[in-house]
Amino acid sequence: MNKGIAVYPGSFDPPTNGHLDLIERGSKMFEQLVVAILRNPEKTPMFSLVERLEMLRQLTADWSNVRIDTFDGLMVEYAKSIDAMCVLRGIRAISDYEYELQMALMNRKLEPTLETVFMMPAVRYSYVSSRLVREVEQKLREKLDPAYKLRDRELIEVPRKRKKKA
Ligand code: PNS
Repeated sequence: MNKGIAVYPGSFDPPTNGHLDLIERGSKMFEQLVVAILRNPEKTPMFSLVERLEMLRQLTADWSNVRIDTFDGLMVEYAKSIDAMCVLRGIRAISDYEYELQMALMNRKLEPTLETVFMMPAVRYSYVSSRLVREVEQKLREKLDPAYKLRDRELIEVPRKRKKKA
């Protein structure tokens, strides 16, 4: 079995049970697993970087060889900086494959010595995704607090109204 440092990069917005399942599997396979959250200034995440960092730290506290970190720029550069020999990514269904293949081949072109390892999460997590979790959270917030939806609308409409000069 290949022992060493592996990096598990992603957005984790928010972390899901599928991510945790993969982290647990990865922690058994590698000596050290670094879960690396992408700092992406071009995207507005639902959960801030600090929130995601704290969530992942709490959720993985029981695994002593798992470390949580953040990175920006190219993932291969980050992987090199922490001496990782592998990149861990999860594939749930065939629909993930094309995107993952494209990313793995691009990363290989950028850094041929870095190997991408794909793992499958438990089948019960095959249809869980951060996007679905975000959508459910949004609907729950609106249900529990109708003002939440209104506030959202105001945030969109107020700047428009301001544009009209008296
Ligand atoms: O959880 P995600 O959003 O599917 O993760 C995607 C991520 C963060 C792994 C990917 O976008 C990434 O590695 N971004 C860093 C920029 C980079 O290295 N790009 C070249 C590889 S396509």
